[in-house]
Formats: sequence, C-alpha cells, structure tokens
Amino acid sequence: MDALLSDAIAAARLARGIHLYFQEKGFSTDTKTGPTDLVTQADRETEAAIKDFLLSRYPDHAFLGEEGGQEKEAGYRWIVDPIDGTVNFAHGFPFYAVSIGLEVNGELELGVVLDSTRDELFWARRGQGAYLNGRPIHASETDRLIGSLLATGFPYDVNKDRENLIYFERVLEKGLTVRRPGAAALDLCYVAAGRLDGFWEVKLKPWDVAGALVVLREAGARVTGMQGEPYELGSRYIVASNGLIHDELLATIHGRG
Ligand code: IPD
Ligand code: CA
Ligand code: CA
Repeated sequence: MDALLSDAIAAARLARGIHLYFQEKGFSTDTKTGPTDLVTQADRETEAAIKDFLLSRYPDHAFLGEEGGQEKEAGYRWIVDPIDGTVNFAHGFPFYAVSIGLEVNGELELGVVLDSTRDELFWARRGQGAYLNGRPIHASETDRLIGSLLATGFPYDVNKDRENLIYFERVLEKGLTVRRPGAAALDLCYVAAGRLDGFWEVKLKPWDVAGALVVLREAGARVTGMQGEPYELGSRYIVASNGLIHDELLATIHGRG
C-alpha cells in the first residue's frame, strides 16, 4: 500500500480515536446555521488533528475541511469531513464516520471512510478496487426497485427547500423501502458494499461525498445527478446505485415510474 493511502487510513484511525474519546468523556455542542445544524467540540478537534497529521507529512498539499474551509490551492487537495453524522454523534446514535478524500489535479484519487462505532474501514484507490476491512466489496445485484433497500438524507434547511420531501414522498407512495440513516458518507459506502441498493440526496457538500466516491466507483456502483448525467463533486444532486435499478429509481423520483 502506498504512503498516501496508508497516511489517509492513519488519519482516519486518529479521528476515530478522538470520536471515541469524546463519546466517553462528553463534549460541548454549538449550533451553526440553525437549531438542528450542530457542531461539537469533537468535530473541531478531529478536523484540527487530521489537518495537522496530513499537512505535517504533505506541507504543499491543500486541505478543505467542513469546519475550517480551505486556505490555499494546490494540485493535491485533501477533502475532509471530520464527523459525518454529527447529529447522530451528538445524540450517541451509533452511525457516524470520518471521511477523507484526496483529489489530484481535480480528480478524486483515493477515499477512506471509517465508521467509528463499528470500526468498519472502507477504502479505495482509483484502479485498485474497493475494500471493507481488507475484503473486496461490490455493489448489489438487485435488479428491481420493488425489492430494493434505499436510503436518502435531508439538508438542515429542508423546510426552506422542500425538493427532496417531494422525491421522498414519491418513493414512499410506491411502497418502496427507504431509510434515512443520517451519515451520507456511510450511506454511500453501504451502496458500494451492497448493503443498500440505492441512495439519493440533494445539496450534499464535497466533504460529504469525497471519501466515498472512489469507493463507489471501484465497487462498480453508478453515480449520477438527477438526469443520469455523471456526478461531479459539488453537484447539487447525487444518485448512487448498483446500476441495475438506477433508471427505475430516477423515474420514480421524477414521478414517471
Ligand atoms: C450530514 C449527513 C446527513 C446528510 C446531511 C449532511 P454532517 O453531514 O451526511 O446524512 O443528510 O445532508 O449535511 O453535518 O453530519 O457532517
Ligand atoms: Ca457531512
Ligand atoms: Ca460533518
């Protein structure tokens, strides 16, 4: 395994240690854009620790973190969500992760997502397959939407922009099975591992997706926008699936199914 990947994994393990420490010890919580948009002491300290760790090894690289933003541009850019699933973390609901992606000249090269409570490490490097705790993973083979397990998520300002409530209702009205686990990076890795057949969300940010995107692609998943166009980091929409149910899922979301 090369140094970039093993350092990304080491940074994720460092983050997990901080998550578990604060779960044990307790932590302070503040709000960001509204009463349900939380940030904890653990989010800030985890991001600072990952940044120190990676930039001490790669001082020329750029770093984009959810909590601290980005200071400079560079060909290599780490994109980090220190805790994906902060609301779950704040309540002790055991479904949250650290997500680390590395972009090289605008293209995602590797990704690492570590589920802190299950100690499940998802990772992938472009062209080298996707792995969960060292074992290769693949998207599922479910070929009909009706037997699929789906998931979605909602932004903190969901009442300002109700778009996904409409999509969600269309999917539910068809009697489909859909979950809202609360950590997009893990939801996406679950599609890669075949635990979910499909996932969609509106308004995710680059740090929610960067760690999982290479994992998805290397696991054979299909990742698009709402019209089936290839997904690009920062797009407003993401739809990820095993590929087989993709068109049916898009049609249902758009009320055509
Ligand atoms: C959130 C989670 C959630 C998704 C939200 C994200 P955060 O990230 O991924 O599942 O529905 O859109 O903002 O705030 O926990 O890092
Ligand atoms: Ca996030
Ligand atoms: Ca976060």
